[in-house]
Amino acid sequence: MTNPPNQPDQLPLAQPVLGPLTRAAIFLVVTVKPEPGSYEIMRSFCSGLSGLIRAVEFRDIDAGLTCIASFGSDVWDKLFGRTRPAELHPFREFRSGERYAPATPGDVLFHIRAGRMDICFELATQIMEQIGDAVTVADEVQGFRYFEDRDLIGFVDGTENPRGNLALESALVGDEDAAFAGGSYVIVQKYFHDMKAWNALSTEAQERIIGRKKLTDIELDDATKPASAHTALTVIEENGKELKILRDNMPFGQPGRGEFGTYFIGYSRTPRVTELMLENMFIGRPPGNYDKLLDFSKAVTGGLFFAPSVTFLDGVGEEQPAAAIATLPAAPEPPAPAVRRDTSLGIGSLKGERHE
Ligand code: HEM
Repeated sequence: MTNPPNQPDQLPLAQPVLGPLTRAAIFLVVTVKPEPGSYEIMRSFCSGLSGLIRAVEFRDIDAGLTCIASFGSDVWDKLFGRTRPAELHPFREFRSGERYAPATPGDVLFHIRAGRMDICFELATQIMEQIGDAVTVADEVQGFRYFEDRDLIGFVDGTENPRGNLALESALVGDEDAAFAGGSYVIVQKYFHDMKAWNALSTEAQERIIGRKKLTDIELDDATKPASAHTALTVIEENGKELKILRDNMPFGQPGRGEFGTYFIGYSRTPRVTELMLENMFIGRPPGNYDKLLDFSKAVTGGLFFAPSVTFLDGVGEEQPAAAIATLPAAPEPPAPAVRRDTSLGIGSLKGERHE
């Protein structure tokens, strides 16, 4: 007897987008060399990636190593054929006054996370060992968790991330694009902070820019929080419902060079939500009422990628663009996208279950 639709073994296994926040991360962005041989190497790499991650992960299972591979719009068809995620497109730039969110080169993003940097480093090394001849590295950032989950401008970062089912519903594609269910859209931007100018502000002025208290992380009340606060402009409501994204920002930098940064990464079920946030931040809501954090923080990279399910990647054929995974039968209106989950994902509470 064949299984009825939507049995767990027929649902795509999501990449660990919903994995716990970790102490260390590597963000590696590469472009694929425009030669047929490069695409072949990449396809073969994709189908073996889950095995490669398992091999490195298993050397220290307690470190909680995960890796999410995601792909940009331009490279998608060349690697996987014409069946593509419905909303995958190049990163949309935003520009207004001094503020600019640039689109920068990048075909594949690897988001590697673990409780320790050494195992992240090992996986990045093994990945480059396999694809080094086929790609050019566009950007590589090693991020670290800073005191009390603060970013380098001193504020706790990540508090209002969705958790549990809400995280699943916010970050993973569901039946609206059944062939790519379990996937996720990813937007990344690398920001540099002008720490001298930021530190010259009073704590109260900084708090009005972020919209939360610096020491306690408590949200400013409505009377005190300006409409231009970062945490006002990034709240998106549609038909009375708040639309969330799942962030895992990481501080990075080189004090010796005066470099202090935040690597922004946001996963979402549709890139539209993150784009609306960017529009509010850079252009303003209404236009002109922009995010003052941008007077002190400059975006130097920007990319939009799609992280397909593990099931999709495992099935990529070496020779020619593989068709997308079979369209899944529509599920009967689940509250959240129905995807099979890796039991090690720690979905319950992003903050509570971390790998130290
Ligand atoms: C310089 C880069 C950035 C820094 C330092 C930063 C920092 C922060 C901080 C401190 C908070 C408050 C605590 C929290 O809820 O996490 C926050 C909230 C938030 N940020 Fe950012 N952020 C940056 C860029 C972005 C970008 C580019 C986006 C989206 C495109 C974004 C989206 C959000 C969202 C959705 C919230 C939660 C709002 C709420 O529900 O209250 N952030 N950010």
